[in-house]
Amino acid sequence: MQRALAAQDIMVEAAAILRAGGLVAFPTETVYGLGASVLNESALARVFAVKRRPADNPLIAHVADMGQIEVVAQRVPPLSRTLMEAFWPGPLSILLPVRTGLPKELTAGLATVAVRMPRHPLALRLIREAGAPLAAPSANRSGRPSPTTAAHVLEDLSGEIDGVIDGGSCAIGIESTVIEVVGDAIVILRPGQIDASALSAFGVPVRYDAHALRLSLDTRAGGGADMGAGADASIGEAPRSPGQKYRHYAPRADLQVLMGQDAAFVDFVGSALREAQAQGRRVAVLPRREQIFSQADFSYVLGEDDEMTARLYDALRACDSAGVDIIYLQGPQDEERSAALVNRLHKAAGGKILRI
Ligand code: TXA
Ligand code: MG
Repeated sequence: MQRALAAQDIMVEAAAILRAGGLVAFPTETVYGLGASVLNESALARVFAVKRRPADNPLIAHVADMGQIEVVAQRVPPLSRTLMEAFWPGPLSILLPVRTGLPKELTAGLATVAVRMPRHPLALRLIREAGAPLAAPSANRSGRPSPTTAAHVLEDLSGEIDGVIDGGSCAIGIESTVIEVVGDAIVILRPGQIDASALSAFGVPVRYDAHALRLSLDTRAGGGADMGAGADASIGEAPRSPGQKYRHYAPRADLQVLMGQDAAFVDFVGSALREAQAQGRRVAVLPRREQIFSQADFSYVLGEDDEMTARLYDALRACDSAGVDIIYLQGPQDEERSAALVNRLHKAAGGKILRI
């Protein structure tokens, strides 16, 4: 007879695997993470290997309580502590001075370590049970959209990891905000749900790192096509957050993001779709609202704002599964509120954002 594993048994088993140096993927409120003990050098090295992650891209240490911070960080400056108290548990990763003696893979040799306390109850239980902070990059193959379901994790990493805890779909759907406190200012290295306006409630200046700015806000400034030719690696100085220089979140198909209202989107896609299909290309259409694109080879309704954010990576993966060559995606209506989403769209599309 098969043994029924209660949720508690699964967590105990997963934590034992982690303590023994294994890799277990788990849900967080943002995306699924690929967990490994921050204390285990060979486990961390395996994280880089299975993800095919560039060696210079550091990991985020996930903690379950404030006491675990000192396992990875030397100290917590007062402003960082204030931000932790305000936003943890939640989707905010904060750079702190790293403690000496940890495996170098955790920070890719940098002097800082990114730390976050996730809000998902299964993530918190797993970290607690494992007894040490867990390094957890998004549990996708490098360059693929981050996973927002356990099935996505297996799509990329099946057979290469020791397990995945299935917690259903992630509520937020894009990765945490990454910040650094520099002097008296908060610098956003990677935009996320906790945005500049939320961070500016603390009476200190909030600014974007040049790379995060380029990738999230530039799309508003210009107009016209190809507003982010430098979106991949060609921006001048080195980014503070190494992850910002790689093309991320990308589907296999050619993604075109169209910023505009329903009528303009229907018009544009109507003719573009016919042209593409005439060239033998399979086309996906991803509108915000239910619309009839009967000629499309695949379609997926994204919804508005937060809903779109939560569905984006699933939609991009679904397009890949459908084997399409080109994707027409209707961008969010409220760009101001959706800065982090626009940042991910920008990266996924390699800068191809068009105002229609
Ligand atoms: O929401 C999230 O943060 C998810 C879930 C699983 O918690 N994790 C995640 O990890 O997105 P990952 O490895 O896919 O992205 C980590 C980002 C990278 O862009 C990396 O360059 C940056 O954080 N990062 C990590 N440590 C850093 C450091 N010391 N200095 C600058 N950037 C750092
Ligand atoms: Mg990632």
